[in-house]
Amino acid sequence: MSSARLSIHPAFAIGEVDRRVFGSFVEHLGRAVYSGIYEPGHPTADAEGWRGDVAELTRELGTTVVRYPGGNFVSNYRWEDGVGPRDQRPTRIDLAWRTIEPNAVGTDDFMRWCRLTGTEPMMAVNLGTRGAAEAADLVEYCNIDGGTTLSELRRANGADEPHGIRLWCLGNEMDGPWQIGHKSADDYGRLASQAAQAMRRVDPSIELVACGSSARDMATFGEWERVVLEHTFDDVEYISVHAYYQERDGDRASFLASGASFEAFLHEVIATADAVAAKRHSTKRIKLSVDEWNVWYIDDFAGETNLELLERPRLIEDVYSALDAVVVADLLTTLVRNADRVGVACLAQLVNVIAPIMTEPGGDAWRQTTFAPIALLARHARGTALDARLDSPRLATAKHGEVEALSAAVVWNSDESELVLSVTNRSTEPVATTLDHLGFADVALVDALTLLADDHGPRRTAAEVAEAAPRVLDDVHVGDGSTQVTLPPESWSLVRLRART
Ligand code: AHR
Repeated sequence: MSSARLSIHPAFAIGEVDRRVFGSFVEHLGRAVYSGIYEPGHPTADAEGWRGDVAELTRELGTTVVRYPGGNFVSNYRWEDGVGPRDQRPTRIDLAWRTIEPNAVGTDDFMRWCRLTGTEPMMAVNLGTRGAAEAADLVEYCNIDGGTTLSELRRANGADEPHGIRLWCLGNEMDGPWQIGHKSADDYGRLASQAAQAMRRVDPSIELVACGSSARDMATFGEWERVVLEHTFDDVEYISVHAYYQERDGDRASFLASGASFEAFLHEVIATADAVAAKRHSTKRIKLSVDEWNVWYIDDFAGETNLELLERPRLIEDVYSALDAVVVADLLTTLVRNADRVGVACLAQLVNVIAPIMTEPGGDAWRQTTFAPIALLARHARGTALDARLDSPRLATAKHGEVEALSAAVVWNSDESELVLSVTNRSTEPVATTLDHLGFADVALVDALTLLADDHGPRRTAAEVAEAAPRVLDDVHVGDGSTQVTLPPESWSLVRLRART
């Protein structure tokens, strides 16, 4: 059996894990909104039409921040269509997904859903077909108390108190040729800076995210970030990262090692942002908003231009396997490990569309395999991420070259006196792993769970998903100064230890 060693000390901190790292995303796409979060007449729906089963699962998932209303959708969205009396709202063609959009859900409605679920909104503005004026108008509508036409309109629409939305995305994936209003880095950077300045004059307290690349393999990646940040460095707190992974050509080893590519991507964006800072002799550090990440079998998607024009079509409803769940767990572990620079992260998406929660119209809501590791990490990865020095066997992969067999994050929750190890074994062998917890005393096991990737493939029913649920990891031995754990092949594990410093 191969072996690995992780060494930690409470003094070696990476940074606080921002609770916003456990975010998600609800886009007007497919059935994410209609028959996802919203379905008037559903047996669990409240008076307004919010599905109670989905709201409850959202809380159980531990979702903190929710990005809205897109995604590609936002780049052709008129926010004015979605406010005011429902029966007077227009029905439009959403060009992003070639879908009939009834506008039954809009900004004020989404804010009520956020309150219902205890989540923080992350609002995107349209910089595809619109510009700085409409973006500033939306901030005024949402965040100004009253006394202006747009803030009074919000009050007349039933939202007496301002929404107080702090986090705003300056458009979406503007580097992508598929994006309505796609732009060059130079054109987008200039527009994003203008929009940012206008929005901030309305509300100086907002936090802003500039669009980074929509994938690491975009031809413009790197140069896009540099040019956009040259324009927006003084205007934004975050640059976005979007990253999706899938198993291709049966190359399971590369898929399991997706986290290695993800981490390299994060570090490349950080390096680019810091290079822009260096050129400006600035100590400001731009953080990452990883506001779309997940496993997505994008090769199975027909493409935006090949879609029949329908209302709430079944689009991108990927069904996940246990293997996918292990990769998702590893991606989230990677985000936690990079706590010093990742300030926001949104799993794309929350319900029905590449989502941990699935629904049937008029029927059940259930958890996909990816739900459990996300919920566990959101619940337990609280506190300070520690710099876990890792000595791991290495693995050869066709796609990412040689990578570490293990990928780990260790979080010290001093409030709860809990040390949490989140660790993926990407290899096909068990790995005897030692966690040296230097500087911690009275260490005792709270519990240990493991999620095994198997060969079952997509798990379509709640019963099939339950068979792949994380199970107790028996082989954990807590000793003086170190804990020994045998990590099963192709698995993700969460080990919780009681400790004091
Ligand atoms: O999450 C699905 C889509 O993926 C989003 O709308 C877009 O931003 C990305 O390409």
